[in-house]
Amino acid sequence: MPATPPARDAVTSNSLATDPNRLSQLFGDDDGLLPLWIAEPYVDLAPGVVAALETRSGTGWYGYEARPRALIDSFWEWMASRHGWDGAGLNTTVSPSVGTSIGVLIEELTEPGEGVLLQPPVFTDFKPLVTRANRTPVRSPLVLTDDGYHMDLDDLETKAADPNTRMMILCNPHNPVGRVWTRDELADVAAICARHDVFVVADEIHADLALPPFRFTPFASVAAASGVSWAATHGPIKTFGLAGVCDTLLVTGDADVSKLFRTRSSQLHLTRNNVFGVAAFEAGYRTGAEWLDQLLALISSNVALLREGLPPGIGIIEPESTYLAWIDFRGLGMDVPELARWFAGSAHLALSPGHWFGREGAGFARMTIATPPAQIEDAVARLTTAVDAI
Ligand SMILES: Cc1ncc(COP(=O)(O)O)c(C=O)c1O
Repeated sequence: MPATPPARDAVTSNSLATDPNRLSQLFGDDDGLLPLWIAEPYVDLAPGVVAALETRSGTGWYGYEARPRALIDSFWEWMASRHGWDGAGLNTTVSPSVGTSIGVLIEELTEPGEGVLLQPPVFTDFKPLVTRANRTPVRSPLVLTDDGYHMDLDDLETKAADPNTRMMILCNPHNPVGRVWTRDELADVAAICARHDVFVVADEIHADLALPPFRFTPFASVAAASGVSWAATHGPIKTFGLAGVCDTLLVTGDADVSKLFRTRSSQLHLTRNNVFGVAAFEAGYRTGAEWLDQLLALISSNVALLREGLPPGIGIIEPESTYLAWIDFRGLGMDVPELARWFAGSAHLALSPGHWFGREGAGFARMTIATPPAQIEDAVARLTTAVDAI
């Protein structure tokens, strides 16, 4: 007899499930660590998604299943209703992961040695995707001012103007600093990259996680006016906590890029889908809106808990999106190794240390905040005790 599944009508009741092997590899063997380092929601997932997976699992048939066209339709209906973004005239292709899409685009659209622009501190996978393909990361760091993180557009233009720079990976919204780039900022990026013939890969996997009143602007909506070539990554993996199951999507306005991508995908057999992923993908987009609204409200209230509760010396960079808080520990005056030891050893917290995202992240750490409020209160209490003990 299977155990009765837990009630799934609240977004706040799940415990912190995490991969114990990975946790101890990264942070040591402390059983009491509170694991808040990975970008996934630690809450009960959308009931429609869980039900779809349970139903699919109950069929007892897990063989080859063609991907229904309805999958892509469900994405575009969701995009139209949540973001006012219409896919007319765009090419949409399924891809096993965001990393796969970016890796294939790097291979197809640039040559070894050529430059790929990144804006650190930024998602940890981008740089290795560039270096492992023997391309050159070109850094245009974000700038932190009193009103948050901004792009340095002069620097971006200088680096884009180098004829060796062929591609830019834009993180929109930005992991880890939480910016939702405005239409003007995106239009500036599009104009710069169009002027210098730099292809833009907009990683928009956190699109649905803009925290009201902030609103996601698709790079596609500014691209046409500039004439820039671009592609964007999308999908339900972050929105609905399905990174271990679902495929993602690659959207582009450029039919030639789409063709290159499809040809390479079919050559490498990247097109086989996971039957559970198909079920969960469509269920998320068709049934998950109310759950997502609750999740966004929970994240915003957790930001307030952090803002009000963090002890002196520690501050939060106000996120405009994502379920990740970028926390500023520079006031504690510790260097990178000292701070990493202090999180795990004194505060008993597994956080992503800021330097993982580039050297500009030194003194910061990323904390997952899509959790029940009790976990945030626990994290704040641990930090407060550890600060008192310094
Ligand atoms: C900005 C961004 N892109 C991509 C990913 C990962 O996507 P995938 O696992 O599909 O490569 C993440 C995961 O945290 C992310 O934050």
